[in-house]
Amino acid sequence: MTAAYPALRLRRTRVAPWSRRLVAETVLSPSDLIWPLFIAEGQGVEEPIATLPGVSRWSVDGIAARAREARDLGIPCLALFPNTPEALRSPDGREALNPDNLICRAIRAIKDAAPEIGVLTDVALDPYTEHGHDGLVDEAGYVLNDETMALLVEQALVQAEAGADIIAPSDMMDGRVAAIRAALEAGGHRNVQIMAYAAKYASAFYGPFRDAVGSRGRLKGDKRGYQMDHANAEEALREVALDLAEGADTVIVKPGLPYLDIIRRVKERSEVPVFAYQVSGEYAMIEAAAAAGMGDRDALALETLTAMKRAGCSGMLTYFAPLAARLLGA
Ligand code: PBG
Repeated sequence: MTAAYPALRLRRTRVAPWSRRLVAETVLSPSDLIWPLFIAEGQGVEEPIATLPGVSRWSVDGIAARAREARDLGIPCLALFPNTPEALRSPDGREALNPDNLICRAIRAIKDAAPEIGVLTDVALDPYTEHGHDGLVDEAGYVLNDETMALLVEQALVQAEAGADIIAPSDMMDGRVAAIRAALEAGGHRNVQIMAYAAKYASAFYGPFRDAVGSRGRLKGDKRGYQMDHANAEEALREVALDLAEGADTVIVKPGLPYLDIIRRVKERSEVPVFAYQVSGEYAMIEAAAAAGMGDRDALALETLTAMKRAGCSGMLTYFAPLAARLLGA
């Protein structure tokens, strides 16, 4: 009598590396990565960010060098965030509209250094306001929607004029995608894309980013009056539907790993390319765990990014972009 054996052995395809490669359902590639960079004033400046180990703010010349690095690593796109000098921050964040601000100078430097690299710019006022909110604030502390939108439209135009390829509104004001699209068309920027931060949650994972752009200490209150409640998923689907109806080309779910269900549900509803932002706090947690000997940085980076892709993402914004591209053997 023969011994009983399992009718099916799912382990068979897992035994050899060649076979695991053949049956892999999700393959992470440098082409999936968008690399967020922080810009500092000055020349030859590199300022490490204490709460974001391994990430620095670079002056514009250093940003140009990162663009060449991205090109050599096969990373298709950079996302830019400024650390606006103190003296240029104001209640209405008007430095956002200056065609010679840090962002615009960095865009031009990237286009000079590596014209084949895409440039994504964030539309929101928080790196430019004294109070650290994404929009104009009234006496009661309310972030004004329509008044803010007028500034965001101008900010988007200034970025497009400087050469931005993707405008990414991260402010969560209602109606801004339609207004920005109309202004881009009228301004002759027909092929400038809009990647809408459609489902952006009021999250405790943004702390290190706020250090990087210098808004942490100044933020009065929180952003729950405009960013989404982390208890909600259906509302995210409404946000995505609205941004698509207003003309968004692609959408972002943010943060990434705690919101894989949102990525999946958006993908089930729509064919739109979805991107996840693996935000500063997600990155910092992995770095802290690795530094404390509680985890393997490289493995954690690749596993979390692959999980986002498996959930349905076309790509991810991640501070691990250069590391991941190297590990993937670019
Ligand atoms: C600005 C903005 C934030 C992030 C991206 N754009 C912070 C915020 O909304 O407070 C966070 C990114 C990160 O944490 O890495 N509106």
